[in-house]
Amino acid sequence: MNLILLGPPGAGKGTQAVGICEKYGIPHISTGDILRSEIKQGTELGLAAKSYMDAGNLVPDDVVIGIAVNRVNQPDCAKGCLFDGFPRTIAQAEALDEKMKIDLVINIDVKDDDIVARLSGRRVCKQCGATYHTSAIGDSTVCSACGGELIQRADDNAETVRNRLAVYHQQTSPLIAYYSKKGLLGEVEGNGGIEAVFEAICSIIDAKK
Ligand code: AP5
Ligand code: MG
Repeated sequence: MNLILLGPPGAGKGTQAVGICEKYGIPHISTGDILRSEIKQGTELGLAAKSYMDAGNLVPDDVVIGIAVNRVNQPDCAKGCLFDGFPRTIAQAEALDEKMKIDLVINIDVKDDDIVARLSGRRVCKQCGATYHTSAIGDSTVCSACGGELIQRADDNAETVRNRLAVYHQQTSPLIAYYSKKGLLGEVEGNGGIEAVFEAICSIIDAKK
């Protein structure tokens, strides 16, 4: 099954992707994670992407489509995969449609005011990428999964978050109508707790199987 998680920055796509991929045994494809890993390794691609990401703008379509196509060509995607943060423009969605059949798109809906609060408190592990929130872990800077250091993402400052939201409304939210017209869209209210959102997503996936 090929799934897409749609939603604004901070909707909980990455958080939910971990549980979904584990439960359904499919790989997690996050273009944001791939780009951050390229930046960390200091590759040419990472260098080119960094200025876009730091400003909260989208990395150009051709670059991101290339990354996604490359990833889905790997053998572990043969039985399906979960996209998180891709596609993010109509051009990316059309390129994906040419590459593979999408079975289900789940939109996690969270209002802008809640997003700003969520992202200002997000902490991520520098080593394993696990995601936390200060409302649950307080001032802790140690990852409970691997012992790595918890940091704030470079694009989680208030000004960049506002721009990411504007970019989302302008360039990514049209994908809701795009997939709805194809009859592929499932909608989830993202403001429940992490467990409640997970249950809601799983029931949509199970109904589709
Ligand atoms: P990317 O890494 O994809 O970031 P994003 O879409 O902005 O989404 P986030 O990762 O910020 O949020 P999330 O929905 O994963 O939320 P999370 O689970 O962490 O992209 C970063 C950048 O890369 C882009 O700006 C762009 O420059 C570039 N890029 C990537 N893909 C691209 C593409 N396709 N095209 C072009 N450019 C691309 O949760 C957030 C916080 O909320 C956490 O602290 C979490 O603990 C908490 N939380 C989660 N769920 C809940 C809940 N139910 N209740 C309360 N708190 C919750
Ligand atoms: Mg994410």
